[in-house]
Amino acid sequence: MLEKINRIKEEVALFKAATQEEAEEFRLKYLSRKGRLNALFEEFKTVAGEQKRETGQKLNELKIQLLDTFERCKAETDSGRLSDTQARDLTRPGDGMAVGSRHPISIVRNEICDIFGRLGFTVAEGPEIEDDRHVFSALNFPPDHPARDMQDTFFIAGDADALLRTHTSSVQVRVMESVPPPIRMIMPGRVFRNEAISSRSHCIFHQVEGLYIAEKVSFADLKQTLMFFAREMFGEKTQIRLRPSFFPFTEPSAEMDVSCTCNGKGCSLCKHTGWLEIMGCGMVDPNVLSNCGIDPEKYSGFAFGMGIERIALLKFETGDIRMYFENDVRFLRQFVPAL
Ligand code: PHE
Repeated sequence: MLEKINRIKEEVALFKAATQEEAEEFRLKYLSRKGRLNALFEEFKTVAGEQKRETGQKLNELKIQLLDTFERCKAETDSGRLSDTQARDLTRPGDGMAVGSRHPISIVRNEICDIFGRLGFTVAEGPEIEDDRHVFSALNFPPDHPARDMQDTFFIAGDADALLRTHTSSVQVRVMESVPPPIRMIMPGRVFRNEAISSRSHCIFHQVEGLYIAEKVSFADLKQTLMFFAREMFGEKTQIRLRPSFFPFTEPSAEMDVSCTCNGKGCSLCKHTGWLEIMGCGMVDPNVLSNCGIDPEKYSGFAFGMGIERIALLKFETGDIRMYFENDVRFLRQFVPAL
């Protein structure tokens, strides 16, 4: 049997196909189901135990040689044809180019900015490394508030007053300090909290906060604005619900829920409550206005803030926040950009 293998090896060593047909003949003779290679594999079953190893090795070498030869012949005859006729055909369609897609967080952020843009909100951005004043004290956080604790905030080593912002409310302070009312802005950005990474929370995430300050702004304005947002984002039948809450920088404060797509029937997404919590909001505390140089007797305003990952999780119904940070292209490829 070894002899047979060697003979075929020599036979095909210098084989060349001039045409596609000759390449196909080669395939039929050696590689097809009834070809010589298969016949040898059949014969191999009868080879005695002690010769199996060597014969098997040679047989595999032959197989690789035959496949390589066929691929080479095919490529040579293919390209020969191409250069004669098709290669010069300028009407032939070109090779497709792989087009990337936007990251789901960018898709949702753009959509949020677009919805508030239609209400006249413009976008403001600020630094990720902040000081205590912009993240906490101007926002009415008392000196011993737990959010300032090492457990929540990342402080920058070696600098007594540098920390990573824990919310984009710091940009609200920067805006109020630098432009006079009326102010109608949203602040998208990356924020940092010293939290354990799990399927529901991450130490880095994204927020969009909003601020509206003018004369005679009321809680009714806040409700109407957020209702518009919820219906644009989650569909026109969406209901909203405000529950009393607490933030140092707003009074009164609330958490806003939107009705779940299960229509109150109860599903695992809304944990059988029919409602999904999506943001915090409230009327800007007069202390915050005066801390930032705005007269609270003349102006009032509302603020709200939401996590982009949270909205993305609800919108795309993906169960794990970590997927948004792993950049696995199989995950990212599924998101067709909306904007
Ligand atoms: N800054 C709050 C947070 O990060 C969200 C918020 C913004 C709440 C504005 C009320 C008003 O949780």
